[in-house]
Amino acid sequence: MNVLVSPTPEAAAMLAAEHLARAAASAIAERGRFSVALSGGSTPKLMYEALKGLEVEWEKVHVYFSDERSVGPDDEQSNYRSARVGLLDHVGIPAAQVHRLEGERDPAQAAADYAALLPSRLDLVLLGMGDDGHTASLFPDTEGLHATGRVVANWVPKLDTWRLSFTFDEINAARERWLLVTGASKAKVLREVQNGIDGVAGHPVAGVHDVTWYLDAAAAEELSL
Ligand code: 6PG
Repeated sequence: MNVLVSPTPEAAAMLAAEHLARAAASAIAERGRFSVALSGGSTPKLMYEALKGLEVEWEKVHVYFSDERSVGPDDEQSNYRSARVGLLDHVGIPAAQVHRLEGERDPAQAAADYAALLPSRLDLVLLGMGDDGHTASLFPDTEGLHATGRVVANWVPKLDTWRLSFTFDEINAARERWLLVTGASKAKVLREVQNGIDGVAGHPVAGVHDVTWYLDAAAAEELSL
């Protein structure tokens, strides 16, 4: 595990943002563009705040989403809306380079259409982790954990809803995978993941390979480092 522990959530978010700006510059220098998939939830918001203040050639960045709720783009629950309000509206990224997962559509069709527009290989997938060990919208004991292809419509019984999500194949095919995880509520699950408890079915984040972890001290509290 490549684990970077910062003292606070803000410091972890700033470190991830600085490294993202560096990764973008490197990808743009090598391939002319940087293709990054953002996640939802609350953790990325601090990183978005930090990113707004950094130098990034946004006109050469393509933004994708690792997962989306079954809602439209203006819904408070939308991961796209969260990224738009928190970051994308404040930087010079062309609208055509923000590729939204259409949560308002038929899930299977939206998943298939999104898979078709993905680049051959993403540079970076930026993920979070729920306190049940889910990542993207790959929740414990759901069918999506076994999906092939690139994007899956995943029925999540405990939420009684469909979610759109990258598959493990898609996540693990990217050049890099970073997990930004902060807060004491994640400490127990992180230890269980480190110790291989409950496997991928129980803690789907364990199905993400070759991860760089951006943690704060609270989330890292129970890890053996
Ligand atoms: C989502 C996210 C999800 C998120 C985790 C962590 O749609 O909710 O993609 O995988 O990363 O639930 O969420 P927090 O950052 O809010 O703890």
